[in-house]
Amino acid sequence: MPAISSSAPGKIILVGEHAVVYGQPAIAIPIHQLRARAYFLANPAGPKGRIHIIAPNIDLEKDLEDLGETHPFTRIFELIKSQFEIEHFPSMDVKIVSDIPIAAGLGSGTAVSIALIRGLVQFIGETLDEEEVSRLAFEVEKIYHGTPSGIDNSVVTYGKPIYFIKNVKPEILSINDEFYFVVADSGIKSETSQVVRSVRNGWQNAKIQYELLFNEIGALSTQAKDYLLEGLREQLGVLMNKNHELLCRLGVSNIILDRLVNSAIMAGALGAKLSGAGAGGNIIALVPNNRIKSVQEALREAGAVKVILTSLPKKK
Ligand code: PMV
Repeated sequence: MPAISSSAPGKIILVGEHAVVYGQPAIAIPIHQLRARAYFLANPAGPKGRIHIIAPNIDLEKDLEDLGETHPFTRIFELIKSQFEIEHFPSMDVKIVSDIPIAAGLGSGTAVSIALIRGLVQFIGETLDEEEVSRLAFEVEKIYHGTPSGIDNSVVTYGKPIYFIKNVKPEILSINDEFYFVVADSGIKSETSQVVRSVRNGWQNAKIQYELLFNEIGALSTQAKDYLLEGLREQLGVLMNKNHELLCRLGVSNIILDRLVNSAIMAGALGAKLSGAGAGGNIIALVPNNRIKSVQEALREAGAVKVILTSLPKKK
């Protein structure tokens, strides 16, 4: 039997992070050049029910049963088991590879979950629609994030730009005008769950101030949707700068992220902001196509450890 393979893209949040956890809208886009892949190979000669997992990126080679109940991979197999009322899986070898940087706000854990869910469903000869894939991935997100909004599993499942409000079916945005984004990694690892928790503590101590900030961020997301659909790059750039200022006021930026944002703008970006939870991870800059090289260089000089160019709409 040939190996079954499945994959899922990385992602980045364009506007609205953190506020989205509190019911405000946000926009996220997929990054197709970064992907997680899973390969499934039946092992009929192996011990009954043995699921052997190899994930070189995280230095893992173990049988599923040795991973423990709270491990995201264990959770995925359990979710599929109950979804399809399966008692035992056949013996299999599973290999997971990913070129999405870990703990950088680019959706690496989410993409691995979705690649595993899709591949496993195919491996057992079943099907699952995108909404269900996203719903199962959301259950796994809770292990990584604690109280996820659901934006990451949605954008990674659909692989398209989405306008997202918690507990509402995501709206897929059909963008026709070209937008170039440079994504730069600060190299600082940041745990989303910790940053989300610190924002929650801040909100609990100063609800009125935080909710005003969340409302302002939400209004930016609504406006950004129109700018994307109407191809208004300059306006979107200004809006991204405003979003970064509001994220600074939420306390999730730091001098390294601010330096990357400022150097992108100085080198000709139309706007830039931190992306994702903050406190590390990536920034995203909207760049006119004649300034891509200079912005990339400026970001490297300012200390970015990895610089990626991505664009909308997805190139054929
Ligand atoms: O996974 P990250 O670091 O891109 O953060 C996700 C965005 C947050 O709004 C901070 C959390 C969430 O669940 O929406």
